[in-house]
Amino acid sequence: MAQLEQIAAPGSEWWRSAVIYQIYPRSFADASGDGIGDLPGITSRLDDLQELGIDAIWLSPFMTSPQKDAGYDVADYRDVDPIFGTLADFDEMLAQAHARSIRVIVDLVPNHSSDQHVWFQEALKAAPGSRERGRYVFRDGRGKNGELPPNNWESVFGGGMWERVVEADGTPGQWYLHIFDPSQPDFDWTNAEVREEFRSILRFWLDRGVDGFRVDVAHGMVKEAGLPDYAPVADADSMGGGEENVPYWGQDEVHDIYRDWHQLLAEYDGDRALCGEAWLPTLKKTALWVRPDEMHQTFNFPYLMTAWDAEALGAVIRESLDEFGKVGAPSTWVLSNHDVVRHASRLALTAENPQGEGIGPETPDKPDTAIGLARARAATTLMLALPGSSYLYQGEELGLPEAMEIPDEFRQDPTWFRTNGERYGRDGCRVPLPWEADAPAFGFNDTGDSWLPQPAEWTQYARDTESADPTSTLSLYKELLAERRARGLGTGSLIWEDAGADAVAFRRGDIHVAANLGTEPLELGEDVTFVLQSQPFDGTALPVDTAAWYTKG
Ligand code: GLC
Repeated sequence: MAQLEQIAAPGSEWWRSAVIYQIYPRSFADASGDGIGDLPGITSRLDDLQELGIDAIWLSPFMTSPQKDAGYDVADYRDVDPIFGTLADFDEMLAQAHARSIRVIVDLVPNHSSDQHVWFQEALKAAPGSRERGRYVFRDGRGKNGELPPNNWESVFGGGMWERVVEADGTPGQWYLHIFDPSQPDFDWTNAEVREEFRSILRFWLDRGVDGFRVDVAHGMVKEAGLPDYAPVADADSMGGGEENVPYWGQDEVHDIYRDWHQLLAEYDGDRALCGEAWLPTLKKTALWVRPDEMHQTFNFPYLMTAWDAEALGAVIRESLDEFGKVGAPSTWVLSNHDVVRHASRLALTAENPQGEGIGPETPDKPDTAIGLARARAATTLMLALPGSSYLYQGEELGLPEAMEIPDEFRQDPTWFRTNGERYGRDGCRVPLPWEADAPAFGFNDTGDSWLPQPAEWTQYARDTESADPTSTLSLYKELLAERRARGLGTGSLIWEDAGADAVAFRRGDIHVAANLGTEPLELGEDVTFVLQSQPFDGTALPVDTAAWYTKG
């Protein structure tokens, strides 16, 4: 850790301004050649990440799991799934990342376990009312013979939120709650044993040296007492963004857990951090997750969900700085992750689809790739000039679009199965990365296997192709990250500038930043000198769907 300590000056914790790169391990790099990425694969590509210029990586789950939800169904929180490697591989990856001054955050999934977790297996065998059942949310059914689920809640992945079990004597029995897939039973966080177990799991990874945790479903762990019926608002997104007073999202008591964890992390050196995945209806509510004694970061999903519209984008940035500022927290900007349509496609959707039901072969009005890429480059150019921390999702630095033509037979997302193919789900943003244009599986491995098929046209996005091109998206990201670091843009304040109704414009010290979201070029003035442009252009007028950093005079 010695080398890392030097990066964070006292009073300016690293997580306040860090650019954190999300690795989705199964799709990053595959050293074993079985078609699924792994930890040694990550280690082998750390030099590329160092060259990119990020400060930290977040790894989606690599713990032991039957992989029913791509690892977000954990069967053993203290071990590595064999498809990803071993604990020794993890330690090596961590040491190699730290040696390159890259911090490492791991994913923690505390809302639910896999149904293969030993506790759940014990609960199935135990009787109603037992200590074993008390670790999860088991209830008797409604109806004459308990044949109806305990309430009307609907799973995020489609279908009901309850599954009925068969009791030890072979009779139909109680029901258990699962916000997600039936293979992901929810823990009961009012249970002291559950709380103690997770304290111990946090310590397990902190002792190994991780710099923090991304906390999965950090708004869902506590359910309203009595589990009252609830009818979801039509069109509200299924993870709770847009909905108020949902009995399984954003309950007040969830904050007690984070206050407890905050103290636990504070016992460790090196500014360990918690980042919450909490989809909440308003920024005001989101900011509650990062009060001084709770989490350190929480993803700014209202920002992610904002359409390509100058007024809306300006408004969400203002409100974010305001609401997070009130609680003394940085905003944690994010445009893409493994759950949403990649922003190089999402920002060009003609119908609004912010959270993303996924895009597939039969989707009407598919987004235009060129428009999407221009907007994505502009959006990122704007984002990386904002004060606060930013998350990048693997592949966005290559300008990868959503993979929109994945044939049905390759699909793996439980959303696809639970909705009988009505929602394509998230496979399109999870396709393995292209590293080398002319290698098998584009250099993802050397066998050519890939758990999801890579589109043939991804040659143009391969890292080696883009490395050689100064106008590529990869070159833009490297420039952005280097300039951001050199100019200290991750911290400090912002001054708004007026560049007309179709632009978002502000100043950070002597750097002016503007993005044109309109339909006409935007003249910036004669005395402009560009520091960088989201796509190359001549003259001083900002083209449509373009952003730039510049100085004046
Ligand atoms: C989070 C993860 C998502 C997963 C879900 C259930 O939202 O980001 O990928 O499916 O939790 O664990």
